Amino acid sequence: MHPCVPPYPRHACMQGCDASVLLDGSATGPGEQQAPPNLTLRPSSFKAINDIRDRLERECGGAVVSCSDILALAARDSVVATGGPEYRVPLGRRDSPRLATPQDVLSGLPAPTSAVPSLLDVFHNHSPDLDATDLVALSGAHTVGLGHCASFEGRLFPRPDPTMSPDFLGRLRRTCPAKGTDARTVLDVRTPDVFDNKYYVNLVNREGLLVSDQDLFTNDATRPIVERFARSQRYFFHQFGVSMVKMGQIRVLTGGQGQVRRNCSARNPGTTDDGLEWSSLVQTVVDAAAESYSTS
Ligand code: HEM
Repeated sequence: MHPCVPPYPRHACMQGCDASVLLDGSATGPGEQQAPPNLTLRPSSFKAINDIRDRLERECGGAVVSCSDILALAARDSVVATGGPEYRVPLGRRDSPRLATPQDVLSGLPAPTSAVPSLLDVFHNHSPDLDATDLVALSGAHTVGLGHCASFEGRLFPRPDPTMSPDFLGRLRRTCPAKGTDARTVLDVRTPDVFDNKYYVNLVNREGLLVSDQDLFTNDATRPIVERFARSQRYFFHQFGVSMVKMGQIRVLTGGQGQVRRNCSARNPGTTDDGLEWSSLVQTVVDAAAESYSTS
């Protein structure tokens, strides 16, 4: 994947689309960037978001566009830049003034070692709107990018995961010859840099990198969805856009809630953690966006 691609929404949105993932907690205690699963997010991505933020501030003459909206648009643009579908992103999010704790991050993110039932639980906990089709479609973002041995070595040692093809196992063992190897490999073995539906073809051929990938094919409930995406890139692209828009509404802040951060890595000076409510706001963004489409 292009090195300046922003952090993708698994991290940014499964913890709430309020850009709290961008907060650098060093001054005020550990924020989301220091929580273990987020340590794999690339520093260049955080810089890219802040560079866009600076440029918009200059162009707009002030803090007008939130870091959360920048993140949602940048995620869409990096999908398009690698060959994926264009979809319309509802806008109007505001940024969280609240630092998510490492515990928030750990309990909110799906684990790469999880099977479908617990992935679905995590998705449902974030939003009852997210279903098995969303899970399979959003996992298709693993058509680009890299994973560290630590994310999948449990499939290699002490015994090989029987759901993996023998050739693929051999390949992964060459990359990660022993437990604790610090190396990375591609998430999509067929077309690692292109956003396409080959990720699903890999799963059908038992070449998914993570347990959370391969189990989408092993599990009876999600297998037909994988097979359908493997057959039709067109259908996958359509569903990916729908699911991204849905995920982009988790715990959004709108209106007078939150703030528009001046620096995406720090809350605005003088901000405190006060009790914020997110859940009732999700629909507002959808309605507002639908209205603006119908009048434009
Ligand atoms: C279904 C639950 C998901 C799990 C368990 C999961 C897990 C992971 C893990 C473990 C990695 C590799 C991290 C590393 O070892 O460096 C990864 C990479 C990645 N994930 Fe996911 N993910 C999930 C969903 C998503 C979603 C919904 C998206 C975006 C829509 C996404 C986009 C990405 C991308 C682009 C990478 C590559 C990052 C890079 O190259 O640096 N993932 N994911």
